[in-house]
Formats: sequence, C-alpha cells, structure tokens
Amino acid sequence: MGEQLENNIVPNDKIKLAAISAFGLEAIVKRELNDIGFQDVTADNGWMYFDAGIQDIPKANINLRCADRVMLIMGQFEAYSFEELFDKTYELNWENWIDKDGKFTVKGKSIKSKLYSTPDCQAIVKKAVSKKLCEHYDVEWMPETGAEYTILISIHKDVATVSIDTTGAREGLFKRGYREKSTEAPLKETMAAALVKLSYWNKDRILYDPLCGSGTIAIEAALIGRNIAPGLNRTFASMGWKAVKDEYWKNAKIEARKNIDFDADIKIYASDINPKAIKIAQENAIEAGVDDCIEFFVKDVNKIIEPMCPYGILITNPPYGDRIGEVEEIQKIHKKLGRVFGKDRTWSCYVITSVETFEKDFGRKADRKRKLFNGDVRVDYYQYYGERPSKE
Ligand SMILES: C[S@@+](CC[C@H](N)C(=O)[O-])C[C@H]1O[C@@H](n2cnc3c(N)ncnc32)[C@H](O)[C@@H]1O
Repeated sequence: MGEQLENNIVPNDKIKLAAISAFGLEAIVKRELNDIGFQDVTADNGWMYFDAGIQDIPKANINLRCADRVMLIMGQFEAYSFEELFDKTYELNWENWIDKDGKFTVKGKSIKSKLYSTPDCQAIVKKAVSKKLCEHYDVEWMPETGAEYTILISIHKDVATVSIDTTGAREGLFKRGYREKSTEAPLKETMAAALVKLSYWNKDRILYDPLCGSGTIAIEAALIGRNIAPGLNRTFASMGWKAVKDEYWKNAKIEARKNIDFDADIKIYASDINPKAIKIAQENAIEAGVDDCIEFFVKDVNKIIEPMCPYGILITNPPYGDRIGEVEEIQKIHKKLGRVFGKDRTWSCYVITSVETFEKDFGRKADRKRKLFNGDVRVDYYQYYGERPSKE
C-alpha cells in the first residue's frame, strides 16, 4: 500500500470506472480503452466497466476520444425499497471522495424497476450521502460551496448503480475546447472521432470531407493522425477533487504530450459550399493546432467532376433535410457522391445520414450499414470499402 491520503484512499487502491458510450459505439470505446491500457473491459448497456487506479481518472478523461464521460463506480446493489436504497447508499465510502465543502447534486434514471420514481430515488440518495458526510465531518449540514460532484443513481431491473461523474455534468468528453464556433447541425466531436475510427483511416491515406461544415470530421481525423489526446486543453470536474491529486493530472498530460507525433505528414481535404463555414472550420483547426494538416476550400459538391487522387477515403455528414423541398436537393448530393467517389473503386466512402433512400441515390448497396444515433436522431453510417493501395 502506498502513501495514505487525507481522504483514506491510497494511490494503489483499485477503483472501478466506467466509460459511457453512445448507442452503437460500444465496440469502438472498448477498443479505445484497450489501446489506452485497460484490458479487462466489460460492457453492459452502453457502460464499459474497467478496473483502475485513481491516477487513471485523468488518463481516461484526457485520452478517450469516442466515449461520452467517465464515471467512478461507488457501488452496485439490488434495491427493491426506498429503505434498502437509503441503507445501501449510506454504506458506501462517500467520505473517501467528497470533501467537506463538496457540492453534490444527484441525477437519476430508472428502467424496468420497482423503484420507478426517479425524483424520489434522487432525493433518497441525496439524503443518504448527506447523512454519511455530516457524520464523518461532524457537521450539522454540508455547506456545498466547493468542488462539484454529480452523483448518478441509475436503476436497471432493480439493480442500482451509484456513480460519480468524473468528467463534468455540463461538459461531456465531446467538449474538446477547440470548437468555439460551429455551423448548423454540427456533429459532436466524439461522434466525428468515432466515424474516423470506424473507417480505419490512417495517416498515410488521403481523407476528404466535401460537406465539412465546421470541420469536425477533418479536425478529429488530424488529432487522431497526430495522436493528440482530445482532452489536453480542457478542464474536468474531478480536477477539483482532493483525492485526484494535481500530480496525477500533470503526469497524465506529460505522458499524453510525449505521445504526440508532430512529424506525421497528414493530408486531409475539407470543403463546403458555404464560405462562412470554411472560415469557421479554419479557425477551429487553428485552435486545435492541426491547421497544417488540413486544406480547406469553398466548393459546391455538385461541381466536383472527379476525385483529386486515387485511393482516398471519403467521410462525410451531408445535411439531413428535415424541411420540405430540401430532400430533393440532398438526394442530388447523394447521387453526385455516388457518381464521383462511389464509381471509383479505389475510394472508400463513409456517409452518415438519416435519409433512408441513401443507398439507392448513391447507386449501390453499402458493404456495411451501422445503426447510430446522432444526438436523438436515428441515423445510419453507410460504409463502402475501396481497394487498398499496394504496399509499393
Ligand atoms: C450537416 S452539415 C455538416 C456538419 C459538419 N459535419 C460539422 O460537424 O460541422 C452539412 C454541410 O453541408 C453543406 N452543404 C450543403 N449543400 C452543399 C453543397 N451542394 N456542396 C457543398 N456543401 C454543401 C452545408 O453548408 C453544411 O455545412
């Protein structure tokens, strides 16, 4: 056992963390966790559980590209009554984590369970945690003026999981810090990174997004190509927790900076019909520190005659066209993508859209179609695998 901390936790103590992933991205988040160094990952309902040490809280938050947030698992138990929920929550080691002035809020959800009223479950958990902390710190009430702790009580088929959000309730991992401005309907950064990862693009191949909007896909690809950790330039809720020492954050950042491949020669092209979008995308790329990897230009996709080179990878997110009159315009874009990039069998094409006629418009059935959610919108990710360039 290592040095004893003020809060009774020792650095070598094992804790359980879970990365939460959006629907459809579980496998990719699991792969990311393995790549970061967490081997035994178990998936359950979009939560990827893994054993860790406290110093892994910074490591996971700074390095995960496709997960939504990282939760610290406080406990998991069956709960059929409010009394049981109160007692079992009270028993958990809240004093190890929440400081004397800690500000803790409780969020909740309940699915297919006897305790179905989430406001009641939240109130019970809040009461149990307050009681435990007041007794531990020997105070009548907790002032709640300090660091933020968002507790989640999530009940599924009568099994309660009590966790604390290490990332931050307001700003999930999608928030990288580079996208100050965006165009209409931008992709979340985590989703854009997942689209790139699912394409198996690598830095030796040309990547093109001809409907780039604020440039999220291109920028996330450049960050992947350079191996720049997505969370290096932002803050996280658990940075304010005493148990997660400043030194752990510092070490995780030093490690992440060491892994950056500044020399990677990356060629990404990104265009849009809207000059304002291109200006925003360029500013975002500068902010992310990858503007030298991406060539942005204004171009109407309908005016593209042929691909700029063979063996490229197209990853794009055309407009969905919810408004009347737009659908035809969008189908025209899909047809153009099919005629230019789909016909060239050296190109691999990846398109995310909610438009169900996509394959027909594009002109061929996808090699793989993956069901995803872009926010609340049910979408498909159409994947067309092109020929690979020969090694020579
Ligand atoms: C859904 S948005 C892309 C959002 C982008 N993925 C992001 O994260 O910001 C679709 C983009 O397609 C562009 N667009 C629409 N019609 C176009 C056309 N004919 N040629 C090129 N771009 C077009 C729009 O200006 C818009 O920026």
